[in-house]
Amino acid sequence: MATPHNRAANGEIAKTVLMPGDPLRAKWIAETYLADVQLVSDVRNVYCYTGQYKGVTVSVMASGMGMPSIGIYSYELYKFYDVENIIRIGSAGAYTDKLKVLDVVLADAVWSESTYGQAQSLDMKNWQYPSEELNRQIKDTALKMNKKLVSGPIHSSDVFYHEADANDVLRKMVDEEGLLCVEMESFALFHNAEVLGRNAACLLTISDSLVTGEELDADARATAFAEMVELALEAAIA
Ligand code: ADE
Repeated sequence: MATPHNRAANGEIAKTVLMPGDPLRAKWIAETYLADVQLVSDVRNVYCYTGQYKGVTVSVMASGMGMPSIGIYSYELYKFYDVENIIRIGSAGAYTDKLKVLDVVLADAVWSESTYGQAQSLDMKNWQYPSEELNRQIKDTALKMNKKLVSGPIHSSDVFYHEADANDVLRKMVDEEGLLCVEMESFALFHNAEVLGRNAACLLTISDSLVTGEELDADARATAFAEMVELALEAAIA
């Protein structure tokens, strides 16, 4: 059934969806890793592809940036397309010098100042959690593939550019809670999964450091992204 933001027909989207932020990343994943690929939606150029990975049907759909955007796409996938698992594959800024650019993080909890949960279902919690089972699958797969994975609590933010005072308040929270890094989508994704009884996980490549100012260049970003996609795909079919 088409929705206002997705033109795929019933049955055209797999039970497991990989979700990068950028539509062109979704296109690249589909063209690089999937066989028998079909573009099933391109409403607003937010591409959704379905294909075969090692004989298993998998979809990949972009989320766009920020919680309102991933909130819409993930809600529709879970609610109207019967999607069971969404694995977000994104990038994040490091909050600690223990994380270097190119490190891969698996969120095991997410804190946010966002009012997404409150507005969506009167949920006042500032913490959301991924599916334990999906996370276990991803960790086991990383071990088998010999890939280093750091897991811990992360920050999902509504704001990319902060003024100094707001940054100071945020810094206190980050230190108190030991938040590893910042991205802008997983809180809404995990919230939707919780209210709809579905599964979500979030894998992140560290693309920049808010501690050292280090940043990945475009080539390194692409290579790091490919490694994370391979882990997510293998975990999706495990
Ligand atoms: N994603 C990647 N880097 C980020 C940052 N510095 N802040 C928020 N989201 C990000």
